Amino acid sequence: MKRVLSRLVLASGLLFCVAAVSPSIAADAAGPAKPDAAKGAQLYEQGDAARGVVACVSCHGAAGNSTIPVNPNLAAQAHEYLYKQLLSFRILEGAKAPTRMGADGSPSVMSAMAGSLTDADMQNLAVYLAQQKLTAPATATSEKTVELGQKIWRAGNPDRNVPACAGCHSPNGAGIPSQYPRLSGQYPSYIETQLKSFRAGNRAVGSPMHQIADRMSDTDIKAVSDYAAGLR
Ligand code: HEC
Ligand code: HEC
Repeated sequence: MKRVLSRLVLASGLLFCVAAVSPSIAADAAGPAKPDAAKGAQLYEQGDAARGVVACVSCHGAAGNSTIPVNPNLAAQAHEYLYKQLLSFRILEGAKAPTRMGADGSPSVMSAMAGSLTDADMQNLAVYLAQQKLTAPATATSEKTVELGQKIWRAGNPDRNVPACAGCHSPNGAGIPSQYPRLSGQYPSYIETQLKSFRAGNRAVGSPMHQIADRMSDTDIKAVSDYAAGLR
């Protein structure tokens, strides 16, 4: 007890000193360490065999530029969003399943990956990826659906109470860092799969996307996914 007390006194004394010098340093000392992009890069490229972390590069490509549509591009995505997704692939304390399941309702391949990451790893990876350039963005593939896709993107589908995607994901699809993810340059088939996953309740139930996708037809989903991918 005595030791605990003296440690507490010491700790609060220290905090007090730091606070007196600079409030921002005091906040850092009390909170988590600052994300380290260099550590994120290393883990991304090499993984960590000792801890069972698979190198992300093997699926998501060099610096987050994926060459396989089923594995999303991660470069230039907002770090807050990436971090949140990595967390959502894990089973959080007290929960039975991750809040983000795979598109077919079974656990996502990412759940095994995220399970071996620490919170600091996730922050480091997210910050590293957010700093990378999307060097080979995916493009739209269907001319026939551009008109419908553009209509939904810009104005939503009022008949079905679907809001304009542009309102949150920004007119050029770049997203709004910290709130809404980038969709421009993402693979159309990945976007389509995710919209169906929101709709089926396999991902982020309770988020606006679950409600929005729930009101969309397959045709609407396909058209707007293709259109969003091609935005710049
Ligand atoms: C075996 C291939 C594979 C490996 C290795 C892998 N991923 Fe993934 N990742 C995927 C697939 C497939 C998805 C889409 C999964 C889904 O929606 O269920 C995905 C999705 C993600 C997402 C969500 C992206 C978004 O736009 O919402 C993030 C973030 C992510 N991965 C980060 C990582 C990181 C960081 C690593 C390394 C620690 C990693 N991945 C390793 C295959 C992989
Ligand atoms: C009210 C704001 C809002 C509107 C409007 C909105 N979104 Fe979203 N969207 C979000 C949020 C928030 C997320 C992140 C959800 C999460 O945390 O999983 C998201 C995520 C997504 C994702 C997942 C991206 C990824 O990398 O996995 C897709 C795809 C998407 N939205 C497509 C659309 C489309 C298409 C529309 C228009 C029909 C639309 N959104 C309208 C807020 C919005």
